[in-house]
Amino acid sequence: MKVTIIGGAGLVGSCAAFALQLGRVVRQIVLLDANTDGAAGQALDLWHGASAVADQVILSGGYDHVPTSDLVCITAGLRRKPDESRLDLINRNVELFLNILGEMQRAGLKQDGLVLVVSNPVDVLTYLAAQRLGLSVRHCQRAYRAERGQSPGRFLQHFRISKVKKLLAETDEDLAAIARAVGFGHLSSLRACFRRHEGCSPADWRRRHRG
Ligand SMILES: NC(=O)c1ccc[n+]([C@@H]2O[C@H](COP(=O)([O-])OP(=O)(O)OC[C@H]3O[C@@H](n4cnc5c(N)ncnc54)[C@H](O)[C@@H]3O)[C@@H](O)[C@H]2O)c1
Repeated sequence: MKVTIIGGAGLVGSCAAFALQLGRVVRQIVLLDANTDGAAGQALDLWHGASAVADQVILSGGYDHVPTSDLVCITAGLRRKPDESRLDLINRNVELFLNILGEMQRAGLKQDGLVLVVSNPVDVLTYLAAQRLGLSVRHCQRAYRAERGQSPGRFLQHFRISKVKKLLAETDEDLAAIARAVGFGHLSSLRACFRRHEGCSPADWRRRHRG
């Protein structure tokens, strides 16, 4: 598998590349960035450790890598200032992001290639990328299911409920705190999801498992 990271010289992009290196999960990692020297430097740094970690090719390069990439991860963009919300970033990041999408369109995506948007505001930019690149939610779900045997939504639910059970069994945190910790927006969603998975309420489950 080949992964190109657009924004690969930045903090998030270079950390993603390092994680892919340590995870030994891909064959080739390309760092692409407006800061070409920065991308080359990050690639060299990672490359120095490559022989000790995994049999991977790690390099820097341009949009000509996009058509042969199985996954293009976009981390390029401006960071939030301390007083800015994710949504405030929209004014500064959209134009930059549209330029990147234009370059990707010109280069052409690999058939069945995936695009993972990380830049903020992530939900808005993901929507924009799907529209401009002609990718659908179903395309993403199919690829995810083929890899992991379940939909992303189901995976997330299982993951969250297993965290909830761990916190119920091992801590005295109240349910509202647990909901916040695992990413449920409302207590009622946690309760409903828990009942669907476990057939009982979180409180009953805790009583049974903590004696
Ligand atoms: N989704 C998430 O969970 C999540 C988490 C952390 C950060 N972020 C977002 O990720 C983005 C990057 O954060 P960071 O801390 O790595 O910032 P950073 O400043 O360290 O890196 C951004 C990189 O993007 C590059 N870049 C800018 N314009 C470009 C362009 N047109 N083409 C190619 N490269 C370009 C810069 O040269 C820089 O290397 C921000 O938008 C941030 O808000 C998202």
